[in-house]
Amino acid sequence: MFRQVDAARLDEVAACHIEVDGHQVAAREGEPLAAALLKAAVTPMRHSVVSGAPRAPYCMMGVCFECLVEVDGVPNVQACMTPVRAGMTVRLQHGARQIGGQA
Ligand code: FES
Repeated sequence: MFRQVDAARLDEVAACHIEVDGHQVAAREGEPLAAALLKAAVTPMRHSVVSGAPRAPYCMMGVCFECLVEVDGVPNVQACMTPVRAGMTVRLQHGARQIGGQA
């Protein structure tokens, strides 16, 4: 399931920028979006719909749904299951989102 990162190969992966709530964040194309956000210290990633408690990625494998963000206008996207694309626009979610629409 896990494999060791070959540090020499990291230079081969294209560096890029994504926009997070209007701020440019450095990332690598293809890495999990949640990893890029954690690397950039973007926490909390969302707030609980019920209590408003701050939340951040927990499982990093698509199980806990603690990493939900809005990507290119699509709400409730699991950041841990979404590969980074250059120029993608991410909005952190604070509160509930409608399924298939914006809050
Ligand atoms: S971190 Fe658990 S589903 Fe994304």
